[in-house]
Amino acid sequence: MKIEGKEYRTIWFDEKNKIVKIIDQTKLPHKFIIKDLKKVNDAVNAIKTMEVRGAPLIGATAAYGIVLSILENNDQSFLKKSSEELINSRPTAINLKWAVDRMMKKLSGINSNEILNMALNEAKEICEEDVKFCESIGINGLKIIEEIYNKKKNTVNILTHCNAGWLATINWGTATSPIYHAHKKGIKVHVWVDETRPRNQGANLTSYELNEEGVSNTIIADNTGGILMQRGEVDMCIVGTDRTLSTGDVANKIGTYLKALAAHDNNVPFYVALPSSTIDWETKDFKDIPIEERNSDELSYVEGVDENNNVQKVLIYPKKSKSMNLAFDITPAKYVTGLITEKGVCEASTEGLKALFK
Ligand code: MRU
Repeated sequence: MKIEGKEYRTIWFDEKNKIVKIIDQTKLPHKFIIKDLKKVNDAVNAIKTMEVRGAPLIGATAAYGIVLSILENNDQSFLKKSSEELINSRPTAINLKWAVDRMMKKLSGINSNEILNMALNEAKEICEEDVKFCESIGINGLKIIEEIYNKKKNTVNILTHCNAGWLATINWGTATSPIYHAHKKGIKVHVWVDETRPRNQGANLTSYELNEEGVSNTIIADNTGGILMQRGEVDMCIVGTDRTLSTGDVANKIGTYLKALAAHDNNVPFYVALPSSTIDWETKDFKDIPIEERNSDELSYVEGVDENNNVQKVLIYPKKSKSMNLAFDITPAKYVTGLITEKGVCEASTEGLKALFK
């Protein structure tokens, strides 16, 4: 998708310098900075500090982390250690483990002369596949938006939470892909963007990328969705996910659950968009999903630009107050209208998922 009219992906390999390039998302929306990842530890840190974030993108970064590990030290025990560090860099999104396991399976038994090429091809394949899957999610989700538009004959208002946009994937996004497809088809859409405290991925990333693509959007405080739904100003919600269980229970950015409850109370359809790499087929009970707890400074400090366009960070809480920063919550399947996947739309249930993914 575009930034200042130029097409970008969120991650790519620089063949000449044998390094990985990312868009540093901690600097957006105020500064657009492309960062180099040269060593596997750079990839681990980029994931931990959220220079890259969003489930599919951290999976792709981990895959390239494996490539960087081989470039740095083509040795089996170093590779194993790297793979473990990459998997443990963030706990909730299943895409991390999925991508590293896929890479390690591909590389198992491959000799040291061929391993680099093999790893690079597989990391690129993971990215290409994600682009294709996100595009298909868009085509499948477009039908739902079109249906609402055909009934309403007016702008479709869609609420989204956090950033499940192209910046969270390689291209297109998951939750935003149906929106981009509708916009490109000339269907009038308007997006209510939850600010998504504390890291403001909605305001800083979703609104930013929608602006760059010319999609009408309005940032709202995270508490605003409920009244908008009661007033009939939300036609549907689409969110992303970091891990969806085979039961249809959905882990996503903190606050998603409360939006799903409000949507349920107001008969607003609540969809979750995801590629199959985000499905956890093993965990059966949502209580077993590890929920990331991040540093509480992310809550107590806010960052922005001053009148001279300099980035400033300020404390907004009383110095003596404690705060707590859980990064994800779980939306039980019963509150999810449907899962929009690359294979089609299904019920959020074992039967629904199994019918699509044999
Ligand atoms: O903490 P983040 O910014 O990595 O959280 C991202 C989300 O919660 C997204 O909704 C999810 O990863 C899906 S991205 C297509």
